[in-house]
Amino acid sequence: MDSAPALLTSYKMGQFNLAHRVVLAPLTRCRAYGNVPQPAHMSLYYCQRATPGGFLISEACAVSETARGSQDVPGLWADEQVEAWKPIVDAVHATGAVFFAQLWHAGRASLLEWQPNGQAPVSSTDKSADIYPVPRRLETEEIPHIVDDFRISARNAIRAGFDGVEIHAANGYLFDQFMKDGTNDRDDAYGGTLENRCRFTAEVVAAVAAESRGCVSTQMMASSPSRTCCCHSGRHSMAHSSFAEGMTGRKVMRQSPMATVTWLHMAGCLSPTQTCRDGSPGMPS
Ligand SMILES: Cc1cc2nc3c(=O)[nH]c(=O)nc-3n(C[C@H](O)[C@H](O)[C@H](O)COP(=O)(O)O)c2cc1C
Repeated sequence: MDSAPALLTSYKMGQFNLAHRVVLAPLTRCRAYGNVPQPAHMSLYYCQRATPGGFLISEACAVSETARGSQDVPGLWADEQVEAWKPIVDAVHATGAVFFAQLWHAGRASLLEWQPNGQAPVSSTDKSADIYPVPRRLETEEIPHIVDDFRISARNAIRAGFDGVEIHAANGYLFDQFMKDGTNDRDDAYGGTLENRCRFTAEVVAAVAAESRGCVSTQMMASSPSRTCCCHSGRHSMAHSSFAEGMTGRKVMRQSPMATVTWLHMAGCLSPTQTCRDGSPGMPS
């Protein structure tokens, strides 16, 4: 007999007492015109999915203009965005649900038209991925500024009333581009060894945890080789890893800043008996 707890039983997630285990996954919707959330529309959308003691993760929120990986995604870098999120978060809280904001940087998975002045998107590398333009490799000295973008956006999320923050470190976006050995060809402190490739993510986790009273979660790929090309759209080779490095997410979890994480959102977990669309194997047990 299956001893797994039933879906509709309660769960204590850090300081939060969840009434059940059904979570709203983060879903990009491209309806935040000009990167500003639309309070009436988004209050309705999120409240339709909220329950007393439920747990919702917001659609991915860009941490800066360069972070955008779609058009009309909400941001959390400006006061106008914080003010627009407030009534949406209040409406969700009125239902009794817990609401985390997901913070996002798309890295090289972005088009020139979504970048300020049509500039190249930034990444760990200067190599492009399928439909995307050639990115600009971040200079070592620029990386602390990206960490700061996450720190400020996390602060803004808490100002807007969110209960915590999720760092979108999966699906081939900027963190994945740094962590995976197939997309990180750097020779500085952020490239090379697995520890170096995880450094950027670990620095952001520490910065964001400090801003969000430790209420931080991280989404990562559980990851077998090239697993990211199998994520939701199936067309992205936005970040990939060799077989030996496929378990990056688990290894990052063991790094000290990850001890602050309230919950770890593993994306794209395939069991060992499943295979990806490209034929590569699922997650080793
Ligand atoms: C239209 C659409 C938008 C999505 N937007 C996001 C997003 O903003 N952030 C995110 O982490 N995942 C996003 N996802 C992924 C989903 O949250 C979810 O992880 C996925 O659909 C289920 O994948 P899995 O079971 O393979 O993890 C999106 C998926 C779809 C279909």
